[in-house]
Amino acid sequence: MNIDNIKKEFPIFNNKVHNNDLVYLDSANSSQKPKTVVDRIYDFYTKEFSNVGRSVHYLAVAATNLYENTRVSVQKYLNAKDKDEIVFTKGATEAINLVANTFGQKYLKEGDEVLITELEHHSNYVPWHYLRNSKGIKIEFAEINNDGEITLESIEKKITSKTKIIAITHISNVTGAILPIKEITKLAHSKNIPILVDGCQGAPHLKLDMQDLDCDFYAISCHKMYGPTGLGILYAKKKWLEDLPPYQGGGGMIKEVKKEGISYGDLPNKYEAGTMATAQVIAFNESIKFLEKIGIKNIVSHEKELMEYGLEILKKNNSVKIIGNPKNKGSVISFTIEGVHPHDIATILDEDGVAIRAGHHCCQILHEKLGLAATARASLGVYNVKSDFDQLNDSINKCKKIFDLK
Ligand code: ALA
Repeated sequence: MNIDNIKKEFPIFNNKVHNNDLVYLDSANSSQKPKTVVDRIYDFYTKEFSNVGRSVHYLAVAATNLYENTRVSVQKYLNAKDKDEIVFTKGATEAINLVANTFGQKYLKEGDEVLITELEHHSNYVPWHYLRNSKGIKIEFAEINNDGEITLESIEKKITSKTKIIAITHISNVTGAILPIKEITKLAHSKNIPILVDGCQGAPHLKLDMQDLDCDFYAISCHKMYGPTGLGILYAKKKWLEDLPPYQGGGGMIKEVKKEGISYGDLPNKYEAGTMATAQVIAFNESIKFLEKIGIKNIVSHEKELMEYGLEILKKNNSVKIIGNPKNKGSVISFTIEGVHPHDIATILDEDGVAIRAGHHCCQILHEKLGLAATARASLGVYNVKSDFDQLNDSINKCKKIFDLK
C-alpha cells in the first residue's frame, strides 16, 4: 500500500464539498474510514449478523469468533501481554470513566489527589471531577510551560504523598505536545502510583507498545483510528482488571446470578456488560489491518514530513499565530488570526472544501490558561498530502482578504 496514494482507499474523498475537493484536516476530532472498514460493517450485517457470547447456533459462534479475533489483533497491535487486557468500551470516554469509577470506588477517599495536566481534554477531567463531588478528592493540574508542553519536572512538582493516580494525555489535541509517557510512568511507579494514559491522539499516530510503555491503563478512541464510531478500547494490566470491581452490571458480565448474590464473569467479560458494539468491533479488525499494511513506521514518517511542511508554510504567513511550540510535536496545528474569530476562519475555509475544527476542542482549561476563547485547528490523518497545506494556506489568505488583513 503506497502511503502517497492512500486517499483512494477512502470513499469520502470521491465526494465534493461546495464543489471542491475535500481537504480533510479534522482527524484529531474523528478520522475518515477506509472502504474495507465500511464494507466490513455492511457484510457483517447482511451476511453474518448475530449477537456474540450467548447462543450456540452457527451465526452466533462465527460472530463470537470474529469479535474475539479483533481482541487478539488489538492485543498484538498494542503488544499487550494478554488478550484479556483488552476491554471494548463505547469510546475512550467510557474507558476513562470505567477506570475513574472503579479505581475511585476501591482506592480513593476524601483528601486523596488525582494528578492530571492542563492539557487534558474534557474526557480526562470530567470523570475525575465526579469523584471530587462524590468523594471529596482533589484534582491537581501539572502546568504547561511556555511552549505548551508538559515535562517530567512539571509532573514531579505536583506529586505528593496523597497522589493516588496520574491520568495524562499522550499527545495534546491542541498544542500537539507528545508527552514523555515512558519517563513519567517510571517516575509514577517509583512512587507506587498507577498511571492512566489518554491515548485518543496517541494511538492513531504513534507506535504503541504497552509492555514497553508499562502504563497501567491506556484509553483508545477507535473512530480516531480509522475505525467505526461507538467503540473504544481500554488496555489495562491484568492485575488491575482482576482487582477492580466491575463498572456496569448486566448480561454477559456475570458467572452466577442468585437471589442472594452474584458472581462476576472472567476477564474480559467482567467489564463488557450487555450487548456490545459487535459490528464495530468486527469492523475495527479491518482498521488494524489497514494500519498494519501501511506500517506504523511509514505513518510516523509521513506525518512528520507533513507537519514540518505545514508548520513551515503557516509560520511564513504573518497573520497566523501558531499555538504552542513543543519540541516533540505530533499531528495537530492550532492557530489564531488576530481580528478573526476561529469560527469565521473555519466557515470561510469550509467554502473551499477545507475542513478544520474551531472552538475550544474540549479543552476549556487549556484555552483559559492560554487566554484564548477559541482556536482554529488543522489536524492530520494518514491520507493528508502536502498540497492540503497549500490549500489551507490559500484559503487562510482568502480569509485575510475578507477581513482586510495584510
Ligand atoms: N474529539 C476532540 C477533538 O477534536 C477531543 O480533539
